[in-house]
Amino acid sequence: MSLSVILGLMLCIEAPGSSAVTDVFVKRGDDVLLEVMDDAPKDFDLFVWTFNTSNVLVGYSSVGVQTVSEGYTGRVEFSVENYSVKLKNLQDDDSGVYTARVTGYKQQTIAEYMVTVQGPVSPVDLNPDSVSISSDSCKLTVTCSTEDSHISSTFTCDTKTCSQEGGDQSKVTNSGASLRVHLLNDTIICNHSNRVSWTQKKTQIQDLCLLHAGLSDGVSICLVKTVVFSVGLIIMVSVVISVHLMEKIRKQNKQFSSNQMNIELNLLQ
Ligand SMILES: *[C@@H]1O[C@H](CO)[C@@H](O)[C@H](O)[C@H]1NC(C)=O
Ligand SMILES: *[C@@H]1O[C@H](CO)[C@@H](O)[C@H](O)[C@H]1NC(C)=O
Ligand SMILES: *[C@@H]1O[C@H](CO)[C@@H](O)[C@H](O)[C@H]1NC(C)=O
Ligand SMILES: *[C@@H]1O[C@H](CO)[C@@H](O)[C@H](O)[C@H]1NC(C)=O
Repeated sequence: MSLSVILGLMLCIEAPGSSAVTDVFVKRGDDVLLEVMDDAPKDFDLFVWTFNTSNVLVGYSSVGVQTVSEGYTGRVEFSVENYSVKLKNLQDDDSGVYTARVTGYKQQTIAEYMVTVQGPVSPVDLNPDSVSISSDSCKLTVTCSTEDSHISSTFTCDTKTCSQEGGDQSKVTNSGASLRVHLLNDTIICNHSNRVSWTQKKTQIQDLCLLHAGLSDGVSICLVKTVVFSVGLIIMVSVVISVHLMEKIRKQNKQFSSNQMNIELNLLQ
């Protein structure tokens, strides 16, 4: 019987007593090594790694013949010593179930992995929505946002400590990642994470409260932003004007000296 017929037969027969599925998360573009437990049977006719049940990655017969499927040539490395398979440069399409099976006297599934390929998470933004100050406390609400999701949380500080209303806030984003806002040593942290990467932004609570301490209650962030922006603008305009003036003076001086030189030359002639 040819290898492909045996492979075909193996795929049709449901494996008895399958092993537990192991979850594996891989960053897009990375490699993954899928291993087989030590107790893998040593005497088999055929060993096969499959993807999503029906796609064969690699087959290995007891007589030492190794076949790698066309779609996987150059992308998989099979170890004839321990039957592990290394998949290279994983892309989103490679997410799915990988199964190692042997056939001989009986069919047996000896390893099963649920591989999930994830890309890096997008950056986050952490911005105050409102800050209100009273004589002995500061209460602020911030919003932590990503491109497709956001979460708000409220914090209160007395003269000594700060606390988060309702504790940690978190949610699962539309793309299946997790967005979390929490407090660590008076620092608000916004963390966007999946199983392979995370991004974060932090801000000191006291900085936000201090920024508002000099202002009366209820003054909006907008006003502060406007003031900061205006001061920045005035400085910028002043710089531009002075550079312009200096340039003009320099030019005038130059012209003056060249005029003078002309006069002197004329006098000499
Ligand atoms: C199996 O073989 C591969 C490739 O040679 C190696 O990287 C891996 O560490 C081995 N695993 C075990 C459990 O020996
Ligand atoms: C493989 O199976 C997984 C889960 O069963 C599924 O989400 C995925 O789309 C399948 N991949 C392909 C390429 O068929
Ligand atoms: C937070 O404070 C604790 C105790 O004061 C300290 O051990 C820890 O290193 C601090 N963590 C950070 C991230 O600053
Ligand atoms: C962000 O969250 C991820 C997942 O929970 C965690 O591994 C990582 O350490 C967190 N980063 C920070 C700075 O807290």
